[in-house]
Amino acid sequence: MTGLPWDASYHDGPPPWDIGRPQPAIGRLASEGGFAGAVLDAGCGTGENALHVASLRVPSGLSVLGFDVAETALAIARQKAADRGIEVEFVTADAFHLECLRRRFQTVLDCGLFHTFDGSERPGYVASLASVTEHDGTLYVLCFSDDGPDTGPHPISQEELRAAFNPSNGWNVAAIEPERIQTRFHDHGAPAWFATIKRI
Ligand SMILES: C[S@@+](CC[C@H](N)C(=O)[O-])C[C@H]1O[C@@H](n2cnc3c(N)ncnc32)[C@H](O)[C@@H]1O
Repeated sequence: MTGLPWDASYHDGPPPWDIGRPQPAIGRLASEGGFAGAVLDAGCGTGENALHVASLRVPSGLSVLGFDVAETALAIARQKAADRGIEVEFVTADAFHLECLRRRFQTVLDCGLFHTFDGSERPGYVASLASVTEHDGTLYVLCFSDDGPDTGPHPISQEELRAAFNPSNGWNVAAIEPERIQTRFHDHGAPAWFATIKRI
């Protein structure tokens, strides 16, 4: 697990990606009914996206689990859930060993995690995601894009997304749309891709 370096990024106040509210793209998706059933937030950080999805309680039957390697982030996320009276589980897990969760999910969100992994790490992560995503379930990936100007620190091309998720490893990329990721360092966000990927 790569938890210790990540944990340190939460020690002295919010890290650059932690904007203290859901990413606008995730808020829009949630309001359009994009989340259903058991929902997994991969690399949830301090939980704003997971908490937002859980707070909508639409449709009924929706449950939300967020995981991360950073214990400090998880402690903050649990405190927010308690303060806001929102039911969300936040657990420690390594994105490369999600089978350890022993659960499956209908909707999976990756907001800013995929783009932190290099090309050699992606196959292991993608296989791990496949092991916990229901067939016909949906994975949403919001990642920095290479479509500048002002690209974020780990820009990803559409080709890299399509190479990582393909029918040979159990995925079908349904759509890749241009988006923005808000950060503490960008006034108007950084260019991003919003990918909708079906588990087949
Ligand atoms: C760029 S942050 C995004 C956090 C959150 N999704 C958000 O939008 O604020 C990436 C998160 O992934 C977590 N992470 C990195 N590697 C991980 C791994 N192998 N397993 C689980 N979480 C990991 C980090 O601790 C960090 O919280």
